[in-house]
Amino acid sequence: MNSKDTQLASVPTDDTWTPESWQDFPAAQQAEYPDEVALERSLKQLQELPPLVTSWEITSLRQQMAECAAGKRFLLQGGDCAESFDDCNSTVITNRLKVLLQMSMLLVHGLKMPVVRVGRFAGQYAKPRSSSEETRDGVTLPSYRGDIVNGPDFTPEARIPDPERLLRGHSRSAMTINFVRSLVDGGFADLHHPEYWDLSWVDHSSEAKEYREMLGQISDSLSFLETLAGRRVGALQRVEFFTSHEALHLHYEQGQTRQVPRRWGWWNLSTHLPWIGMRTAALDGAHVEFCRGIRNPIGIKIGPGMTAEWLTELIKTLNPDDQPGRLMLIHRMGAGKIAEHLPYLIEAGQKASKTLLWTCDPMHGNTENASSGVKTRRFENIHSEVSQAFEIHQACGSRLGGIHLELTGEDVTECTGGARDLTDEDLKRAYRSTVDPRLNYEQSLELAMAIVRKKRGLSGASINQ
Ligand code: PEP
Ligand code: CO
Repeated sequence: MNSKDTQLASVPTDDTWTPESWQDFPAAQQAEYPDEVALERSLKQLQELPPLVTSWEITSLRQQMAECAAGKRFLLQGGDCAESFDDCNSTVITNRLKVLLQMSMLLVHGLKMPVVRVGRFAGQYAKPRSSSEETRDGVTLPSYRGDIVNGPDFTPEARIPDPERLLRGHSRSAMTINFVRSLVDGGFADLHHPEYWDLSWVDHSSEAKEYREMLGQISDSLSFLETLAGRRVGALQRVEFFTSHEALHLHYEQGQTRQVPRRWGWWNLSTHLPWIGMRTAALDGAHVEFCRGIRNPIGIKIGPGMTAEWLTELIKTLNPDDQPGRLMLIHRMGAGKIAEHLPYLIEAGQKASKTLLWTCDPMHGNTENASSGVKTRRFENIHSEVSQAFEIHQACGSRLGGIHLELTGEDVTECTGGARDLTDEDLKRAYRSTVDPRLNYEQSLELAMAIVRKKRGLSGASINQ
């Protein structure tokens, strides 16, 4: 073990943890496979298939997350609520990447600090459900648990959990990550060619105008720099992208968890950044047991039901040595609840750890039903939660180091409000999500600009500076 490795140690070597030790703990939100032999077969294949990410990428992300916690970087995590196998196509992947790149440019420029880009993609295929069964017109079937488990159609065939889907999920994730890597390494993210990541259908939008003005400024500064240096600034031709998903389906996570040559410990190589969802954060539960033993950075979603004691124990269990870059708390309270619940959780976090990275998910606490019955979220609530989060952290002597969003590059109408003031009526036009409502392109950019304004306002900097 080299000294850097020792620094990042998280599980004592005499511990009882193994990649399958979670199976001795109560596992919430797992699929019930009727054919266990088929499940074992898929798992075995998953264990033999190549990993999707590498341990050194994970280490690099941990270091960057430590810097986010220290206020030197800002983390932007975003993507679909749930990826679908059908949406594993070049248009959807490219458009999602474009929005994330544009938002990150706005943040880099406005916050004057590097942004860590983390996609909710290449594995975000498993979903927690409030009920394990769904009844329609007197017929009861297993709930849809995400494409990695079963299909969304309300038929017995589609809803039976199929372990073959674990392998399809792995392949779709590999295709997604492969395409993202080729794009960002191959010049797609090149600052000299921002037109590559322009979305044509939003030419008229006021956000697009402000965004292009900013790009113009960046481009001028770049030309100036390159004239001075007498050469192109190569580092600006590519960016880094990390992947993340909810570590919900523990057989899938186990299947890609392995040891690597010359490095200590176990790594979940299905993603860089797995997170524990709000419904699976029980201290004595299987998800916490699984996550405590892997060396990836871990996110934990915390909602209004989280207590100070519970959070303290989670921190002690998942990061006993208080290693920088290991834990990210993603609070998702809702605009009406954050002021009441966040302060005591921050206080508990400050007592238990010096290294926590706090990020805000302003989506999941603000879900409501529109008049038509579909799930929606109001932009004003999303904006308000982010804005309050910055203020509360500052007032508590803490720091908000990032943001976690559900968004898409497609022209959808799933969240109301925003500059175009989408109404409940507009939701009918282009509502595509089978799970949670996402910010569309304009709403995403608008939120990125709002973050810049808020953060600069709080630090006393003027907006035009
Ligand atoms: C999600 O991120 O899609 C999700 C289910 O979140 P949470 O666990 O916060 O409800
Ligand atoms: Co969601």
